[in-house]
Amino acid sequence: MDYNEIMKKAIEAAKNAYVPYSKFPVGACLYCDNGKLYTGCNFENSSFGLTICAERNTIGTMIADGGKKIKAIAIYSPNMDNCTPCGACRQVIHEFQTDEGTDVITKIGENLKIYKLNELLPEGFLL
Ligand code: THU
Repeated sequence: MDYNEIMKKAIEAAKNAYVPYSKFPVGACLYCDNGKLYTGCNFENSSFGLTICAERNTIGTMIADGGKKIKAIAIYSPNMDNCTPCGACRQVIHEFQTDEGTDVITKIGENLKIYKLNELLPEGFLL
C-alpha cells in the first residue's frame, strides 16, 4: 500500500471536519487488514467534551464495516505539521493493532513521517 495515497485521503477527509469551536480540522485514513481504506474527520459539539477525533471516527467506521485490525493510519491537519494522535486515540488505535504493529503516518511539509504506534504509546493497556 502506498502511504502517499493514504495521506491523500486523510487530506481530503479533513475538508469535511466540523470544527466551529477549535477551527482545527483533522482528517484520518486507515488501511485495514481486510485491504480496505476507511476515512474520517473530527466533529465537535456545543458541549465541548463530546468532540470526536478524526481517528476514532475513522476506527468506528472500520468496525461498523466489519474491519478488524489497523495496518496503518494517516493523520492530517492543515493547521499543524506532524499532527500525531492524541493520547485517547493512541489507546484506541492500540486496541486494533496488527501483530506487526500499526504504522502511524503524519505529514511534515511535503514529507511523510512514519511511527510505530508502540513508539507513541509504549506499554499500551490491553485486556
Ligand atoms: N483532534 C483530532 O481529531 N485528533 C487528534 O488526535 C487531535 C485532536 C481534534 C479534536 C478537536 O476537534 C480539535 O482537533 C482540537 O483539539
